[in-house]
Amino acid sequence: MDTETVIETQNLWKIYRAIHQQVNAIHNVSIQIPLGKITCITGPSGSGKSTLLALIGLLTPPSRGHVLIEGEQMNDLSEIVLTKIRREKFGFIFQNQYLLPHFTALENVCIPLLSQDISHKDANSQAIKVLKQLDLESRLRFRVKELSGGEAQRVCLARALVNNPPILIADEPSSNIDSKLTDEFLQLILELQKTRTLTVIIASHDPQILEVVENEIKLSDGTVKIHD
Ligand SMILES: Nc1ncnc2c1ncn2[C@@H]1O[C@H](COP(=O)(O)OP(=O)(O)O)[C@@H](O)[C@H]1O
Ligand SMILES: [Mg+2]
Repeated sequence: MDTETVIETQNLWKIYRAIHQQVNAIHNVSIQIPLGKITCITGPSGSGKSTLLALIGLLTPPSRGHVLIEGEQMNDLSEIVLTKIRREKFGFIFQNQYLLPHFTALENVCIPLLSQDISHKDANSQAIKVLKQLDLESRLRFRVKELSGGEAQRVCLARALVNNPPILIADEPSSNIDSKLTDEFLQLILELQKTRTLTVIIASHDPQILEVVENEIKLSDGTVKIHD
C-alpha cells in the first residue's frame, strides 16, 4: 500500500522579480510528502530549499501551481484562513532562530500560544510540559541569551512544537550547532515520532541528518533532480 501523503505540490513555481531580472527560485516542482515520516530537501545553496519550505508552510504564495495539504487546495484561501491553517498544522524552525534573547525560555515558548484563545495559566503549563520533555526543566527561567547553543536550539524546537502541530518544518536546523547537538536534536524528533504522528520536513545538506531521513527530495537550480 502507498504511504499516505500529507502535502502535495503540483507544478509549483516561485518567481522572484527583481528590477533587472527574474529568478525562477522554484520551477515546476511536483512532490509528495509522506505522512509521519522525515523528509529531507537537499541541494546546494541557492537551489531553492528555503523557498520550497516557505511555499509548503504557506508562508508565501506560489507564482504558479498548487500546494495541497491533506488533499485540500490552498491557493484561493484568504490570509485569515491561511494563518489559521498555518497555526494548527505547522511548527517552524528557521535558520536564524528568532528567539527573543532578553526573554526567558518559558516566555519564548509561550509566544505562539498568546495569539490563541487560551488562558495565560494554561499557556504556561503547556509550555512547561514541552520544555520538560526536551530536558529544559532547569532552564525555564533562564533568559535565552544565558543559554548554550544546544539549549537555545531545544527552545526553538519546544516553541515549534508547543501547539502540538502535526507537521514540523526545519530549515537547516544543524547549521548553528555541532554534531553532538545535531544528534540530540534528531533523537528528540525520533522520540516524538514514537508517541504521535509527526511529519518532519527538513532542508539540509548535512550527512548526519541524511542518515535518519526516510525520504529525500533533491533540488537543483529550483527543480527536482531525478538523476545524480
Ligand atoms: N526574496 C527573494 N527575492 C529575490 N530572490 C530570492 C529571494 N529569496 C530567494 N531568492 C533567490 O532564489 C534562489 C533560491 O533561494 P533559496 O530558496 O534561499 O535557496 P536555498 O535555501 O537552497 O539556499 C536563489 O537564487 C536566491 O538568490
Ligand atoms: Mg536556505
